[in-house]
Amino acid sequence: MSGQRVCVSDFEEEARKVLPKAVYDYYRSGADEQNTLADNVAAFKRWYLVPRVLRDVSVVDLSVSMLGQRLSMPLCVAATAMQRMAHPEGETATAREEAGYKAIFVTVDTPYLGRRLDDMRNSFQLPPHLSMSNFSTASLAFSEGNYGNDSGLAVYVAKAIDPTLCWDDITWLKKHTILPVIVKGILNGEDAVKAVNYGVSGILVSNHGARQLDGVPATLDVLDEVVKAVQGRCDVYMDGGVRRGTDILKALALGAKAVFIGRPVLWGLACQGEKGVTEVLELLKEELRLAMALSGCRSVSEVSRSLVRKLDFTSRM
Ligand SMILES: Cc1cc2nc3c(=O)[nH]c(=O)nc-3n(C[C@H](O)[C@H](O)[C@H](O)COP(=O)(O)O)c2cc1C
Repeated sequence: MSGQRVCVSDFEEEARKVLPKAVYDYYRSGADEQNTLADNVAAFKRWYLVPRVLRDVSVVDLSVSMLGQRLSMPLCVAATAMQRMAHPEGETATAREEAGYKAIFVTVDTPYLGRRLDDMRNSFQLPPHLSMSNFSTASLAFSEGNYGNDSGLAVYVAKAIDPTLCWDDITWLKKHTILPVIVKGILNGEDAVKAVNYGVSGILVSNHGARQLDGVPATLDVLDEVVKAVQGRCDVYMDGGVRRGTDILKALALGAKAVFIGRPVLWGLACQGEKGVTEVLELLKEELRLAMALSGCRSVSEVSRSLVRKLDFTSRM
């Protein structure tokens, strides 16, 4: 690992320097006033860890099983669009040698694109040498063009995404695939129960990295509610604001089976392509390993709810 990049924010700082402003803004920003964007990160500071000691933590096993697959750690890469703006190899660098589909994630929080003010101010659009290759028909082309006061992406999403998507479509999808279906973007217990009743294999508690509806809670703050509502009937994962190994540990303690990261991967990609992505993942893995050891957890199964407590602000007043 290179000398100066010792935490995720070091990667972000370097990425900010190498990326064109409009690209960095597109990756970094959230919707509207970005209150939820800040809160996603701040939420982790509202929970503290209660370590146990004298437990022989000479060996710490980070592996977990997820939807029938064994993973070396409970950390996964979330879907983030348009990675070739960060590095010429884009998604290929992020996913290298792990090709093949093991599950289908359905993003359920994006019938329309959230208002991302920086993208509007920057009249954000793809650079001329790139295109959306999955949806490249003429009517859906998203490239250079005149988008008026809007971001090019908002115009593209309005054409490409069907806002009539509803629960019956989950039933339809499940009829057409043998792969596990996971809904991404659930933020409350009621929808979580509904998802279970529609037969999903997993729920990803997510607010889309705070890029859709500003003013929704931080994902960490609703994780408990979703986990309790689901009662073990399907896996629960979370993403949003995860920047440290201790963040991953707190999410696991609150019941997440695994945790996803979006922006940190983009910062690694912008810094050094595949190597940068690997560095970010290794960094978080080592941070998690240390956090678990210092908390007295020798395996992920030993991470329990009693490891975290919510800061009580009233008692400090
Ligand atoms: C630049 C960018 C593009 C994204 N594109 C998508 C997308 O196409 N589909 C999707 O479901 N989520 C998308 N997301 C949301 C991520 O999957 C994930 O929920 C979010 O980034 C997690 O928060 P974090 O960035 O704080 O880790 C995107 C996020 C970012 C930052």
